[in-house]
Amino acid sequence: MKVSVVIPTYNERDNLEELFSRIDNALKNYDYEIIIVDDDSPDKTWEKAQELASKYPVKVIRRINERGLSSAVIRGFKEASGDVLVVMDADLQHPPEVIPALLKKIEEGADIAIASRYVKGGKVENWPLYRKLISKAAIMIGRVALPKIKTIKDPVSGFFALKREVVEGVVLNPVGFKILMEILIKGNYSKVVEVPFTFGTRLTGKSKLKGKTMLNYLRHIYRLMKWEGEIDRIIKFSIVGLSGILVNEGFLWLFVKLGLSKEVAVIPSTELSIINNFIWNDLWTFKDVKKGSLASRLVKFHLAAFSGAVVQFVIYWVLLFLGVYYLFANLVGIVFSFIVRYIVNRHVTWG
Ligand code: GDD
Ligand code: MN
Repeated sequence: MKVSVVIPTYNERDNLEELFSRIDNALKNYDYEIIIVDDDSPDKTWEKAQELASKYPVKVIRRINERGLSSAVIRGFKEASGDVLVVMDADLQHPPEVIPALLKKIEEGADIAIASRYVKGGKVENWPLYRKLISKAAIMIGRVALPKIKTIKDPVSGFFALKREVVEGVVLNPVGFKILMEILIKGNYSKVVEVPFTFGTRLTGKSKLKGKTMLNYLRHIYRLMKWEGEIDRIIKFSIVGLSGILVNEGFLWLFVKLGLSKEVAVIPSTELSIINNFIWNDLWTFKDVKKGSLASRLVKFHLAAFSGAVVQFVIYWVLLFLGVYYLFANLVGIVFSFIVRYIVNRHVTWG
């Protein structure tokens, strides 16, 4: 088994010596190569890497007029000759000593082994609370938006190993910079494991990923949701919701015509609209992700409707209390109710 360690670099010159020496030490029992993909760094990282190639098995790719972490990793994959590909950062926030643990998981049958900050035993060193919260919230959004990765605790880690087959022939989008998430959605694999590690502090130099990252991350999630068909699903769910309004109004009219009081007629008409929505969602929106019995799905669908209603009213009342115009307050409540109902249904009813 040959291992290729792909390392994207931009201004990491002063980290290379220690990085290579520690990788060499960690992989002394393996046949391995290091692939440095450098974007023509002003500090001449590529030059330093070439120098060190006389001492370590390093292949240096110097890209001119191209920038980007993901595209650098993808290029690294193309240049790699190993059966197992490892991706890591150059700044030693990813300790090379963890690589053997990742490789062991691959040898034991995993297709992808992730060095994870968020499984038991993993952590982040020296991050203030707010950064930890942002990181966790970002990951939570990804896991909710993309059910395929919902069990993965650190799908945005930049440190992982995979069998070459996972990405072979797969077209990865080089725009998003969370390359692992891209691979987890588009790659060919069945088993993923996470290995805890401590995300340390940078040896030297500065991070390149700050600032624009959050918006880009959300855009990336949106693209992956589209790719997965999750956006289509949300559209179908909305259409079904609209049909429910017609059913509700129609039966309300009918029941009042038949002599029920307006106060009472709203109850069966609402229930009939819930059943209408359930049927169409079960046959159409979520037809490919059905689980459990029809009865249990129907009960869960009611729970989702109920949670949505609670959220809607609580938001409406709170906004009213804050002095917000009532029609606008109601609209905000409806939007949040929709989101809650969609998420509960996607993850619980049909999860
Ligand atoms: N070739 C190339 N081109 N390499 C780049 C570029 C680029 O445009 N931008 C960054 N890199 C390299 C850096 O030189 C470093 O080796 C690695 O990519 C990670 O960059 P950092 O700037 O150190 O990123 P970070 O520490 O903020 O973020 C890391 O942790 C995140 C999790 O919190 C990365 O591993 C992320 O991928 C990860 O999601
Ligand atoms: Mn870093």
